[in-house]
Amino acid sequence: MQICQELSLSTIGCGTWAWGNRLLWGYDESMDDQLQAVFNLCVSNGVTLFDTGDSYGTGRLNGRSELLLGRFSREYFVSGKENICIATKLAAYPWRWTRQSMVSACKSSAKRLGRNVDLVQMHWSTANYALWQEGSLLNGLADLYEQGLVKGVGLSNYGPKRLKRVHQKFAERGVPIATLQVQYSLLSTYPVTQLGVKDVCDELGIKLIAYSPLALGLLTGKYSEKGSFPKGIRGLLFRQILPGIHPLLACLREVAQSRNKMMSQVAINWCICKEAIPIPGAKTVEQAKENIGALGWQLDSGEIAELDKAAASTDKKMVQNIFQTQ
Ligand SMILES: NC(=O)c1ccc[n+]([C@@H]2O[C@H](COP(=O)([O-])OP(=O)(O)OC[C@H]3O[C@@H](n4cnc5c(N)ncnc54)[C@H](OP(=O)(O)O)[C@@H]3O)[C@@H](O)[C@H]2O)c1
Repeated sequence: MQICQELSLSTIGCGTWAWGNRLLWGYDESMDDQLQAVFNLCVSNGVTLFDTGDSYGTGRLNGRSELLLGRFSREYFVSGKENICIATKLAAYPWRWTRQSMVSACKSSAKRLGRNVDLVQMHWSTANYALWQEGSLLNGLADLYEQGLVKGVGLSNYGPKRLKRVHQKFAERGVPIATLQVQYSLLSTYPVTQLGVKDVCDELGIKLIAYSPLALGLLTGKYSEKGSFPKGIRGLLFRQILPGIHPLLACLREVAQSRNKMMSQVAINWCICKEAIPIPGAKTVEQAKENIGALGWQLDSGEIAELDKAAASTDKKMVQNIFQTQ
């Protein structure tokens, strides 16, 4: 299937939540150039998958993340452009409950992007709070594939049980599921180690995308209890988690030093070694450069075992997405 071939060109993607986040919290348009430089750097270094969502940069600046991503991709003229795969996620808003509303939502995303969406994903399952809503939305997702409006469909925040059900339903219509996106990092192993999503993905031929692979920045090692925290909810979360993750950060630092790599690169490489496609969010060219340095080498089995052990024994973990299903 075409989308799988495209995705396999890249072992690292680039997330755009950072854009969406900034856009929500008082966006400064002077950042556009910086974000475009991030995009250009990523594409010229072989990054092909860009993940966004129609809820990123919403409110007053509706869909701005998609608008920017579309503009950057149009204005990119160096080689590699033909491989760019734009993935968006359609939100399961309460007011979006018919299959046609998903088709319309994807058309709106395509309009903002100025091109067709390559991979359309259901942003989250409504199964935890409004099961009745989900069937129509999933039907709409499959309609998009059948109507040739997208090259592939994917899911996000689904656990193995629901994934299997949706897979069965889609298979009846001849619609393959290309990807599943879950929160997966050294601080969020739950979807894989406890839920077992990777095994099910392998069984069903679905690629696993690891979102928040840097645990929102915690695994870069730049945050500490003594230093300053980011503003808002992220700062509150970091205050709670940081005291319980010293051994994991020490292990990451040790592996990074022995490899002459950055901690962020080791954290991202760990995801790649687990056969997931990480989509770290980068806000600056420096961060993007660093994250790209996670490519082209591999941790060995001993290092992976050390990191796994440290991850399993941390007192604190990332909070799971409330929409993550079983
Ligand atoms: N499906 C879903 O429900 C879902 C949910 C969340 C995210 N996602 C996707 O996953 C993508 C990435 O996730 P995320 O942004 O939540 O988390 P992340 O990739 O774990 O962390 C990104 C943050 O870490 C910091 N950072 C990144 N690279 C760095 C580096 N090399 N050195 C130092 N700091 C660095 C930046 O924040 P600071 O500079 O402010 O520290 C950046 O915003 C999103 O863009 C989105 O596409 C999907």
